[in-house]
Amino acid sequence: MTPDHTLRLTRDHESTSANTFRLVPDPPVFVRGEGPWLLTADGTRYLDLVCGSATTSLGHGHPAHLAALQEVMATGIMHTGTRLPSPFRAALYDRLLAILPPELTRIQLVNSGAEAIEAAIKSAQFATGRSRLVAFDGGYHGRTLGALSLTSGDRIRAPFHLLEASIDILPYPGPGVTPDQALAAAETLFAQRFEARDLPALVLVEAVQAVSGLYSAGASFLVGLSSLCRAYDIPLALDEIWNGIGRTGRWFGFDYSGIYPDFVIMGKSLSGGLPLSALAASDRFLGRWPAGMHTSTFQGNPLACAMAVATLDTITNYNLLGHVTDVIAPIMAAALEPLLNLPGISDVRMAGAQVAIEFRDPGGQPDPARAVALQTRLLHHHILAYGGGRSGECLMLVPPITLAAEPLSEALSKLKELVESTA
Ligand SMILES: Cc1ncc(COP(=O)(O)O)c(C=O)c1O
Repeated sequence: MTPDHTLRLTRDHESTSANTFRLVPDPPVFVRGEGPWLLTADGTRYLDLVCGSATTSLGHGHPAHLAALQEVMATGIMHTGTRLPSPFRAALYDRLLAILPPELTRIQLVNSGAEAIEAAIKSAQFATGRSRLVAFDGGYHGRTLGALSLTSGDRIRAPFHLLEASIDILPYPGPGVTPDQALAAAETLFAQRFEARDLPALVLVEAVQAVSGLYSAGASFLVGLSSLCRAYDIPLALDEIWNGIGRTGRWFGFDYSGIYPDFVIMGKSLSGGLPLSALAASDRFLGRWPAGMHTSTFQGNPLACAMAVATLDTITNYNLLGHVTDVIAPIMAAALEPLLNLPGISDVRMAGAQVAIEFRDPGGQPDPARAVALQTRLLHHHILAYGGGRSGECLMLVPPITLAAEPLSEALSKLKELVESTA
């Protein structure tokens, strides 16, 4: 199919809620992926610093991924449903246990991040017999009704009927909110709910809020929140869907704080681009609810599970966590922190192999137009960059965690040149 035909069919028939034409009216149509590069039919290479919304962290066509897919395809079994065991699913449980906190010995596999959030809500409600939920201002947890109810953002919430009556939203550390203030707000809420005999079934938090522009909660906040949750016997879930599996330079973003959450929720880069998410918890939550309480048709698909095993093995075998902390993060910091001196750039936030550059106008208001203009200019220079921030005021880079120093440095030089020329 030609690129024009692809664009025409997509434009005419895709649900308009898809993001395909959000940045430009004629996005490139890629026909091949090679490591960090995406190629159009005429062989033009684009450096992919978006990674399919943080899914293809090992880059495209990684040999370990291709071998894993071939191994499954050679069996001829694409799925056996949820009622039969699968060696590929079992291997994934084995690998996940090796990187998770020791108490979290049970895994629920699902198909998307939002569904993993739903599964966490349901299993916490089932185990505690409680209904109330707590999330944080600025959090992003997905678009199904339950997950969206716990997500910030008027534009994406307003048209729908959410579960607001049973949800409390707490402040997250960030601009105008210190970690101590955020902890005090959590303590006040928990004490009130305890008095009212209406404790939450679950507290859901991200160690680093990525979608709203890369805000880190910080270790002191996570340690404090974890001990408050223990004191009130409220299960704590860490949403690691974006940051987990190496993005921050550790297996999980919360690893920097040393806490032991009750739930760890994974997705995105776990399976290198195939639809798979996972929820890990102890027996209390995932070892006691009866068969069939949360299932879905494609759960634990062998192709997706084999991809996930290959992802985890590759990160371990090639020390990609070290590559993030020792190569990617320092190059990004050295290249991009000086941008803070330029007019219109209000912040440069980093967390491992990712950065958010925040733009504000002279009046101090978020400047999404400039963030979008830069993404478009980068696209014209064959570099794919992402948008983020509550009003779209951030330009985000989410490179593969395999990316070598040279293409990264070259892309960052081009970015600096474009930022300076639009200052
Ligand atoms: C932290 C976080 N949680 C949940 C989700 C939802 O995942 P999905 O889009 O796979 O439903 C996302 C997606 O961006 C996310 O970043």
